[in-house]
Amino acid sequence: MKNQIKKLLTGPYTQVLPMTRLPLKGALSDQQLDVIEDAGILVIDGLIERVDTFGKLYDEVKISDCAIDMCETPMVLLPGFIDAHTHICYAGSRFGDYAMRTAGKSYREIAGEGGGIWYTVQKTRESTEESLSAGLLQRTLLHLNRGVTTVEVKSGYGLTIDHEIKMLRVIKDINRQTDTDLIPTCLAAHIPPEEYLNEPEIYLQKISTALFSILKSEKLTNRIDIYVDDGAFTVEQARPYLKQAKRMSFDLTVHADQFSTGGSALAVEKNAHSADHLEASGMKEIELLSKSNVIPVALPGSSIGLGMPFAPARKLLDSGASLVIASDWNPGSAPMGDLLTLAAVIGIYEKLSSIEILSAITFRAAAALGLPDRGILENGSVADMIAFPCNDYREILYHQGTLKPDKVWKNGKRVK
Ligand code: NIG
Ligand code: FE
Repeated sequence: MKNQIKKLLTGPYTQVLPMTRLPLKGALSDQQLDVIEDAGILVIDGLIERVDTFGKLYDEVKISDCAIDMCETPMVLLPGFIDAHTHICYAGSRFGDYAMRTAGKSYREIAGEGGGIWYTVQKTRESTEESLSAGLLQRTLLHLNRGVTTVEVKSGYGLTIDHEIKMLRVIKDINRQTDTDLIPTCLAAHIPPEEYLNEPEIYLQKISTALFSILKSEKLTNRIDIYVDDGAFTVEQARPYLKQAKRMSFDLTVHADQFSTGGSALAVEKNAHSADHLEASGMKEIELLSKSNVIPVALPGSSIGLGMPFAPARKLLDSGASLVIASDWNPGSAPMGDLLTLAAVIGIYEKLSSIEILSAITFRAAAALGLPDRGILENGSVADMIAFPCNDYREILYHQGTLKPDKVWKNGKRVK
C-alpha cells in the first residue's frame, strides 16, 4: 500500500502553511506563521521537492512526466496531522462506564468495581488477531480520512507477554497494510494485571526481562511507556523499569500526572521523549518540564471523556515548554478520538494561538515521536499533506473540527 507516484504538482492553494522555521519549545504567535499564497507543491518520489508559487512551478515542470492535481476551488494546505498518543488497538466498548461517569461516578471508582482498563484487557485477551486487526484498521482509516497521516498506537490491553505481543503484531500488520504510518509503543506497564495485583514489581520485572528482548528481536517497537499514577504504578516501581528500558536503548514515554504528580519528574529524570496527560501538573512540574527536553503532551480527549480539567497547556507554553496535543483515543477515558476537534476545543479553553494548536498536531507531535522527517512541508520532508476547503487557515479551527480535509496525501499518494 505504501507506494508512491513519481512526480506530482498540486495547486494552486489559496494558502499553504509549511510550518517551517518555528521553534520546538515555547509560546508562538500567529505573526510567526509563514503563509504562502497561490502556492503549489512539487513532490518527487513521495518527498516534498519544492513549495513555491503555483504559476512558477507549473511553468517549470514538464507536463508529460508530472501528474497534476489541480484545485478548482479555494483550498488551504498543511502538513498531515500527527496523533502522538492513542490506544486504538482494543476490543469491546465501555459505553457502560461512560454512562456511569455522566451520572457522577469517577473513573477510578468504576475501575475499582471491575470496569475501566481491566474490562478492556479481558475483552482484548479474548479477541482474535483478526478481530483486533479489523477494529484497528477501521479506526486508522477514519483517522486518515480526517487528515491524520501518522498515528502512535499503544499496546497495554494484553498485560501478559503473549497478549502484549499479539497486540504489537496486530499493530505491525496493520501498519504494513495501510498507507498510514502506525508508530507502535509497548504499554505492558499500563496497570498491574489481576494476576499480579499484590506484586506489581514482579510483573514489571518479568516484562522487562522476558518481553523487552522479544520486542527487539521481532522489531515490534522501540518505544516503552508506563502509566505512573494511583491505581497504576508508583514512581518507585517505574524507575527500575524505565532504567532497564533505557539500558536497552528504547525510547521512553510516560503517562504522567493524570491524577497525582510524580510521573513528569520521573520522565525528566529518565530523559523520556514525552510526558503525557499532565492534568494534575502544578507550577513545580511545569517548570521542571520547561527546563528539560521532555515534550509535554496534552490529552484533551481524556479530560472531555472524564469531565475533568485540561492539562495546563497555556502555562506550559508560557514557561517555555513545548506542547503537543494528542487524542488519547481509547475505549475508556477518551472515546471520541477526533484529533482536530479535540485540538480546537482545548485551544479555546486554554487560550492557545492558531499556530500553537496547529504546531501541536504537526511538527511538535513529530518531535515527540522522534520523527524529524514530517510535520513540516519543505524540501526533503515526507509529502504527507492535507487540504481543507476554505480561504483562510483560521477557518479550520473556527469550525471546531467539523471542517474536514477534502484531499489527503500520504507519501505523495492521494488517499482521499
Ligand atoms: O491514557 N490513563 C491511562 N490510560 C489511558 C486510558 C485507557 C482506558 O481507559 O482504557 C489514558 O487515558
Ligand atoms: Fe493514554
